[in-house]
Amino acid sequence: MNSAPFPQSRLRRLRYHSKVRDLIRPAGFAPGNLILPLFAHAGSGISQEISSMPEQFQLSCDLISEQAAKAHELGVGGVILFGIPKEKDAVGSDSCCDEGIVQQAAVAIKKAVPGLLVITDVCFCEYTDHGHCGVIVERNGKRDVDNDATLELLGRQAVSHARAGADMIAPSGMMDGMVQSIRGELDANGFHQIPIMSYAAKFASAFYGPFRDAAQSSPQYGDRRTYQMDPSSCVGQALREVELDVAEGADLVMVKPALAYLDVISAVAEQFQGVPVAAYSVSGEYSMVEAAAAQGWIDRRSVILEILHSMQRAGAQTILTYWAAEVAQWIESG
Ligand code: PBG
Repeated sequence: MNSAPFPQSRLRRLRYHSKVRDLIRPAGFAPGNLILPLFAHAGSGISQEISSMPEQFQLSCDLISEQAAKAHELGVGGVILFGIPKEKDAVGSDSCCDEGIVQQAAVAIKKAVPGLLVITDVCFCEYTDHGHCGVIVERNGKRDVDNDATLELLGRQAVSHARAGADMIAPSGMMDGMVQSIRGELDANGFHQIPIMSYAAKFASAFYGPFRDAAQSSPQYGDRRTYQMDPSSCVGQALREVELDVAEGADLVMVKPALAYLDVISAVAEQFQGVPVAAYSVSGEYSMVEAAAAQGWIDRRSVILEILHSMQRAGAQTILTYWAAEVAQWIESG
């Protein structure tokens, strides 16, 4: 394994915040290892259930703090924020501006629940009118995401999130060099202590379907296959993705989705001992279980715990799951 040299690598980044220390603790299965995704919506008094994700909501900033506070009381390790802006444009301007929706949500949560670890998803698909994860260029009559033009904006977005109080930055766009760019911008702006949890091995998965309803982020044309990994890729390619991110200074690495990629989680954990591994149990995994449980075809609670245990057994210390608060409650009540 090739760790980046100092200052890209700073192992203390995983130690500054007590919640980060809890998050990556390998022993056991505790609420502190779970991260709850939340969707921030513009406006106030808005609590809009996501049609394909029962019991998950788009929440305006006044209400998102309440959810965050509940999660914190239950001992959940942190929240990861996604934003649905009022207005979208070609370059996703809302995502980089200090008054953007995620920035507002981060400020509100930090004010209401200062002790809660706030992670922000850094990407463009929720903010662009075309729904892609970066700046579009046209080459030979085909539109595609321009990698290097996107890097510059990613750095700006990450710094803006950090200014709003984000404790950890999670880039999810699968741009080459994204960790290096973001690390450089964070450090240049005095945020050398903020860890990066990279969506390192992220596949172009059909399991993201319900999320795209939730975040209103479906690509308006084409798909994400020129940047996210092919679902049939070999494990070796996932390992290369992780290796590059670690060499660029990623503090935690994520595999996403989780359930259909337990082999990848296991290989990453084995190959990169000492690098905390996170697994994102994505929207489609959630909705599949909820749909079957609603029909009475499976025992909901047992299935959820079985699934999360499989991710932990594969080698993930940290799990991002829409069930985080509920599972924390189950664990706490024995
Ligand atoms: C943004 C992003 C996506 C998810 C997390 N961050 C969607 C995508 O890549 O299309 C999916 C999460 C889920 O399905 O629960 N790039």
